Amino acid sequence: MCGIVGYVGPRSAQDTVIDGLRRLEYRGYDSAGVAVVSGGDLHVEKRAGKLANLEKVLDEESLPTAGIGIGHTRWATHGPPNDVNAHPHTGGARRIALVHNGIIENFVELRDRVEDDDHELLSDTDTEIVAHLVELQVESGFDLTTAMQRVCQQLDGAFTLVAIDSEDPDTVVAARRNSPLVVGLGEGENFLGSDVAAFIEFTREALELGQDQIVVMTRDHVEVTDFWGRPVEAKRFHVDWDLSAAEKDGHDWFMRKEIFEQPRTVADSLIGRRTKSGQLQLDEMRLADEELRDVDKIIIIACGTSFYAGMVAKYAIEHWTRTPVEVELASEFRYRDPIIDATTLIVAISQSGETADTLHAIMHARAQKAKVLAICNTNRSSIPRESDAVIYTHAGPEIGVASTKGFLTQLVACYLLALYIAQVKGTRFGDEIDEIMEQLEAMPDHIETVLGSAATVYDLARAHVGTRSVLFLGRHAGYPVALEGALKLKELAYIHAEGFAAGELKHGPIALIEEGLPVLCVVPPKGRDQLHGKMLSGIQEVRARGARTICLAEEGDASIEPYADVLIRLPKVPVLLQPLVAIVPLQLFACELATALGHDVDQPRNLAKSVTVE
Ligand code: M6R
Repeated sequence: MCGIVGYVGPRSAQDTVIDGLRRLEYRGYDSAGVAVVSGGDLHVEKRAGKLANLEKVLDEESLPTAGIGIGHTRWATHGPPNDVNAHPHTGGARRIALVHNGIIENFVELRDRVEDDDHELLSDTDTEIVAHLVELQVESGFDLTTAMQRVCQQLDGAFTLVAIDSEDPDTVVAARRNSPLVVGLGEGENFLGSDVAAFIEFTREALELGQDQIVVMTRDHVEVTDFWGRPVEAKRFHVDWDLSAAEKDGHDWFMRKEIFEQPRTVADSLIGRRTKSGQLQLDEMRLADEELRDVDKIIIIACGTSFYAGMVAKYAIEHWTRTPVEVELASEFRYRDPIIDATTLIVAISQSGETADTLHAIMHARAQKAKVLAICNTNRSSIPRESDAVIYTHAGPEIGVASTKGFLTQLVACYLLALYIAQVKGTRFGDEIDEIMEQLEAMPDHIETVLGSAATVYDLARAHVGTRSVLFLGRHAGYPVALEGALKLKELAYIHAEGFAAGELKHGPIALIEEGLPVLCVVPPKGRDQLHGKMLSGIQEVRARGARTICLAEEGDASIEPYADVLIRLPKVPVLLQPLVAIVPLQLFACELATALGHDVDQPRNLAKSVTVE
């Protein structure tokens, strides 16, 4: 949701913090701010809008030289995105500066307490109240660390907090609950960040903080305790992805770079999944085969793009394992009193591993004794840590707010999980699993082929600059692809877009069709079932009513030609695996159309990369 940075050491605090914020801006870009301590005073600069606005102000007049600082890039929750609501916030005496990611749920009660103490609040944020509370504690004689502990004990909700005190110019104190925070360990300097991107330019040694922990950081020392000051051991780890993974590599957008990385990321997500004897292995998955054999129902929970990956997974898991699967929006799951027990397997899909809706849904499931397996891209993030087992997707950092390579690698992980359950439960023969694995291993080349026709898709996208509405149709595993294609267009081009199951069209949505309306159709491969023929009928029905049909169909499928105003060819692949190739032109289409419309593709309006509030 928001990006948080902290620094103490010999470098320029302002520059180091701004550098970190630049790499975290994908997390939120409604406003940005920095605070440093110099000469016994706090110096704060903050501006509404993107980080560039703040940088412009600092270019004209930088903050005083300092070796300690904190910074924030915001996705607004409480209060509109303006200068006043931007972080850092200070206490009334401007002794404490504090940044925050998350939501303080009991902020109304705390605000009343602060206001009763005659403190004037300047902003609409919950964060400013915490800054006042911490300042009240230090003003009454506690050091910053104790003050943070005492305040955290009173807070409900999700939060990462980082604070500095003008009267203690050597110490940064931070706290976390249900919101990410990592420590970067340097030589004579230390760093804090919402994720490691904030500091990998300077150090690759890091500490992972657990729930309800506080970290106290000086140049030479890092200490972790719980909210009551009891020492706890934090897990040290080495960051092994290289910096270029967080750079654009010559592309105009991170998103475009990430689309073109997909052949490699899909290949990476398949590495090491088979033993020499051909058996599937999911090393990091800490669930025993006996536990999987006992599973009689699977519920997949996720949000947004990850939810659509879950919809594809349902087709694959049910087909290959005959285990019933439900797919549910994480934000709805725990509020409907779901029927789960020890034989239910919850599969939580999340690129970031920090999505609050998904995190709280799995906590609810575990409380009912269900086993939780996370499919996640971000090592050591909250969702895998709160789960019994994990399959990492190995896509590398995804910076573009719109998920692309995250989605494809989630699909691969779902296929692997389905095949693994089939192997364990014996619902598929080994040679069938082998055959599907070979088809999966051929997918990077197929995706490369699709990317080879990007120029055609770009032309098509640019021709739609004036379009106000686009429909997407699919069937079977192509239905979630239609939904995902529509989501990409909505979030990037801000164009009305809807995905439908093609068979459902005649039950209402066909009334939307009018002369010239673009309808993107994901045509299933020709197979033994009737899917392909039924899809063709749906396409004819919309075309007869004036729609302009843009069809994605497999190489060699001539039957589609009479009904397609535009035809984009896809490689020949099995129906269950088709989403891996069919989504790629839709990603390119949305990216190029948004570019042509002059939108910021990596940072679409009103969005943030990880949604760490419910
Ligand atoms: O990090 P997660 O996969 O849990 O995120 C879920 C959604 O917020 C995410 O997929 C969102 O819909 C993206 N903006 C889609 O491009």
